[in-house]
Amino acid sequence: MTQANPEDTAAAAPVCRRLIGRTAVITGAGSGIGLATARRLADEGAHVVCADLDERTGKAAAEAVGGTFVHADVTSPEQVEALFRTANDTYGSVDIAFNNAGISPPDDDSILTTGLEAWKRVQEVNLTSVYLCCKAALPYMRAQGRGSIINTASFVARMGAATSQISYTASKGGVLAMSRELGVQFAREGIRVNALCPGPVNTPLLRELFAKDPERAARRLVHIPLGRFAEATEIAAAVAFLASDDSSFVNATDFLVDGGISGA
Ligand code: NAI
Repeated sequence: MTQANPEDTAAAAPVCRRLIGRTAVITGAGSGIGLATARRLADEGAHVVCADLDERTGKAAAEAVGGTFVHADVTSPEQVEALFRTANDTYGSVDIAFNNAGISPPDDDSILTTGLEAWKRVQEVNLTSVYLCCKAALPYMRAQGRGSIINTASFVARMGAATSQISYTASKGGVLAMSRELGVQFAREGIRVNALCPGPVNTPLLRELFAKDPERAARRLVHIPLGRFAEATEIAAAVAFLASDDSSFVNATDFLVDGGISGA
């Protein structure tokens, strides 16, 4: 599953240099979608600040893209503020915030079984973190009069899933609503805010879920019109578009990159 996928034509497409001189903060940059996006935005010319709770993978990501690593837990207001301050102090601006760090649902995430502590933990990492990152990024963007915020939600926020992931789905629904609200509030200040809704992506997070419940992969595949899972590079290509001026009229939207699941 980790080999190059010949159907991932995004990985082979020529890369434009749309982000020269822009500074991008990426949370969860050590793995999966965050790592692929760090590579993509750096290839497009951005200065990339890679944040992760995992020091080893986060540092490796920053080294790989010639960027800066910041060890940050996205649930900590102080650490999130320090993250965006470091980006601004190091590169002189905060142009792009890809608020992407997240965790998968707890085992058996049905409303009948998920306890309050597990529920709260998922809201904290997947939703409160996005609130904290937007709050920390906005003052820099408002002072600059421009910025693009991309918050990672999920296709599951748009549709019910029989796989029972109540805490996860609710957290991602909150990300959609918050992104819309902020996109509307700050549009006149030159700041666009969009929610990114990937379908299932071949990353460690998904592989961990499927390892626990192998039949889940087959159940998921049935519903994907393209007949396969996404590669992280395909999601990164969408983030690069949302981060760049090519998406200048795309705001406050649920940006689906889901292989057609939600349209089926
Ligand atoms: P991943 O597990 O490969 O990477 C997540 C990264 O976030 C890891 O490097 C991890 O160390 C970091 N992280 C976790 N908690 C953190 C915290 N408290 N502070 C800082 N960093 C933290 O996951 P993947 O698949 O790349 O997911 C990224 C985002 O995409 C998540 O928000 C996930 O919910 C979302 N997503 C993933 C899909 C998939 O199928 N893989 C589908 C739709 C959405």
